[in-house]
Amino acid sequence: MKQIVLSGMRPTGKLHIGHYHGAIVNWLKLMENHQCFFFVADWHALTTDYTDTSNLKNNIEDMAYDWMATGLDPERCTLFIQSRVKPHAELHLLLSMITPIAWLERNPAYKEQLQNADGRDLSNYGFLGYPVLQTADIIIYKANKVPIGEDQVPHLELSREIVRRFNNLYKNVFPEPQAMLTEAPRIPGTDGRKMSKSYNNAIFLSDEPDVVEQKIKPMMTDPARKTRKDPGEPTKCPVYYLHLIYSTKEIIKNVETGCRTAGIGCLDCKGWLIPRINNFLDPIREKRNALVKEGMVWDVLERGSKKANEVAQKTLEEVRNAMGLLK
Ligand code: TRP
Ligand code: SF4
Repeated sequence: MKQIVLSGMRPTGKLHIGHYHGAIVNWLKLMENHQCFFFVADWHALTTDYTDTSNLKNNIEDMAYDWMATGLDPERCTLFIQSRVKPHAELHLLLSMITPIAWLERNPAYKEQLQNADGRDLSNYGFLGYPVLQTADIIIYKANKVPIGEDQVPHLELSREIVRRFNNLYKNVFPEPQAMLTEAPRIPGTDGRKMSKSYNNAIFLSDEPDVVEQKIKPMMTDPARKTRKDPGEPTKCPVYYLHLIYSTKEIIKNVETGCRTAGIGCLDCKGWLIPRINNFLDPIREKRNALVKEGMVWDVLERGSKKANEVAQKTLEEVRNAMGLLK
């Protein structure tokens, strides 16, 4: 029996290279030898962004195209939309009965996000219950492994506690899901901060070659290199970290020496990087364009959601049974 893997992403629209190296690469690997469920967490998007939902559909579509363009293959993994699988909602409701509020309030991820609310009002019930819904997402497929980022670890700890409580109170229905933390390389944005859509510093998987060029050229560098003659230190430069991901060993060596001796200028350095990034993005863009032309994305998500529903319904029956509810 293959192990079951589940992960989700909130629909933030087009994916950038940070998403790729931070998450998608792992999903692609897991797809090879696990039974994988990957889903668009559209209900989770509403927990924080409930006031303006006008982009939701477009964001789901964009993200799903990017997923498939990178090689996530609907024949080898189940790609679906959370809100198309209603059993998540029923399980969330049932789990909410056995989840102490104190567990939710002391969740560090919750506290941190409250602090970074960015003017949004997060005093809503759904936001507090975010990890309860996330738990339902995971355990309704009896997932063993959950590939996530470091920031999601407190949520998963909570999921494990809720599972233990359920299994103790009723019946051993669920395996305890394990977090899979995989090392992600550092992906700085063009301004040196962490790459993020909201910082406006991202390189998207679907950016055209000229857009990539326009974004890299003015990219931040080691501030020590005020003029062409000033030597720099690559490890203080975000451009260098992108070289580490995309460039050949030879180029990386030339960057290191050229930078430290002021033998090259930053524009030369960026000039070497741009084609490397485009080289990486070419097949993804090509595949994406073909997929968009076919326009099959909603069909794929619908088929995936149907498959997910079948599994989820079965688990839900076990849950209703274990809890003594009507069939
Ligand atoms: N909270 C996750 C994020 O923001 C998205 C998510 C929702 C998720 N449900 C999940 C991830 C279940 C893993 C498992 O990225
Ligand atoms: Fe950064 Fe390259 Fe300029 Fe060095 S030469 S500071 S690594 S852009």
